[in-house]
Amino acid sequence: MAVNQSSKAATPSVTAESGAPSGKWSQDSWAGPIVEVEHVSLSFAKEKSSLPVLNDISMSAFQNEFVALTGPSGCGKSTLLRIIAGLIHATSGTVKFRGDPITGPRHELAMVFQTFVLLPWKTSLDNVMFGLSARTDMSDEEKRKISVRALENAGLAGFENVYPSELSGGMKQRVGIARALALQPQVLLMDEPFSALDNLTADRLRREIYGLLINPSSPIHTVIMVSHNVEEIVELSDRAVVLSARPGHVVIDMKNELPRPRNKKSEEFLQSVDKLYSYLA
Ligand SMILES: Nc1ncnc2c1ncn2[C@@H]1O[C@H](COP(=O)(O)OP(=O)(O)OP(=O)(O)O)[C@@H](O)[C@H]1O
Ligand SMILES: [Mg+2]
Repeated sequence: MAVNQSSKAATPSVTAESGAPSGKWSQDSWAGPIVEVEHVSLSFAKEKSSLPVLNDISMSAFQNEFVALTGPSGCGKSTLLRIIAGLIHATSGTVKFRGDPITGPRHELAMVFQTFVLLPWKTSLDNVMFGLSARTDMSDEEKRKISVRALENAGLAGFENVYPSELSGGMKQRVGIARALALQPQVLLMDEPFSALDNLTADRLRREIYGLLINPSSPIHTVIMVSHNVEEIVELSDRAVVLSARPGHVVIDMKNELPRPRNKKSEEFLQSVDKLYSYLA
């Protein structure tokens, strides 16, 4: 992994022009960051004090980039992802989508949560369609079609009418991923999407999801994934941002230029894993 001490210093070399991952979106003229986090700090209000959680975070995610966000438990990773998703507001600093400040949830950014937040009384299809409830510009029939396709893309064709209680953990997570895909976001935010799954299921789903994201027909431009799993980060990411213990700040921003497909047994893969571990230790 190439190492950049500052995310600002890292970003100019990651444009579509400079040969970041495949040129899937090279026809897009926007060369700036798709997501830009600028000096974001956040403290949660407590009864008589406040809990500082994020401290002056700056990082970017460009077109065609798969960015991993990692750091010790409780350092504020999920909080940062929620700020990027527009679900909570930073105490100071800004987050921009294509240069536009994010002030609330927007349809270009979709989130896959760590736990399977499915409505138990709804089928897989209804759970996916539920994510589109706010889209008044679409007919129910359109929503249904998009949702069926999203389930198919997530490997759940034939499971449209099944309830969450009848699905395995991996399948529930696929429904969560299908729900995000149905939103046809440009940015996919994933909070430890594979951590609750057994190793084999997680391994398969990781490969499938990555294949899906880099598919030229996918609208997704950029992925930001929170993960504790160092091997997963080295396998999937183009860049890894490591946060310190709470209040989280950026310890290191590393480019991961290992050629794809990545061989998890290769010497260079293992070296990258070791290097990333050293920043987390
Ligand atoms: N809504 C909230 N109100 C008050 N404190 C919160 C809230 N959400 C999170 N926190 C606190 O903020 C800190 C960071 O939480 P966060 O969930 O972002 O960490 P994390 O890095 O995602 O941790 P993990 O790796 O365990 O998922 C924790 O100390 C947590 O208790
Ligand atoms: Mg978390």
